[in-house]
Amino acid sequence: MKYKELVEKAFAVSKNAYIPYSNFAVGSCIVLKDGVHITGCNIENAAYGSTMCAERNAIYAAYSQGYKKEDIEAIAIVADCEPLASPCGACRQVLAELLLPNTPIILANRERHEITDIETLLPMAFTGDSL
Ligand code: THU
Repeated sequence: MKYKELVEKAFAVSKNAYIPYSNFAVGSCIVLKDGVHITGCNIENAAYGSTMCAERNAIYAAYSQGYKKEDIEAIAIVADCEPLASPCGACRQVLAELLLPNTPIILANRERHEITDIETLLPMAFTGDSL
């Protein structure tokens, strides 16, 4: 599989998930066009709404390091569950703004993966173009 290393790195970082409330570990790994990998995992909070998802942590870290959507080759989001973990609504909104519409998004568990993109996951997204 083309994205095997990306998925493995996402599973590796999922071990760092801070998940005392859900016990549901998620990992995400972005590969940049320059070959750099940037990871994130979910970090929960007793005030549940302050929880941050793995994929948002990863993409915010990429932007924090100076990367932009054009620099992103692909992003993996993984969890050890079936059906595959799929980004929540808030993450879809963020990914719609911070990824190109057709950047590959790899959703994976330990056995299988699916490749999609944000245009598919969030059609007719509200964007800054409307403002
Ligand atoms: N979660 C993610 O990190 N990413 C997803 O795509 C789905 C949900 C996290 C948030 C929370 O810590 C836990 O999974 C259960 O919702």
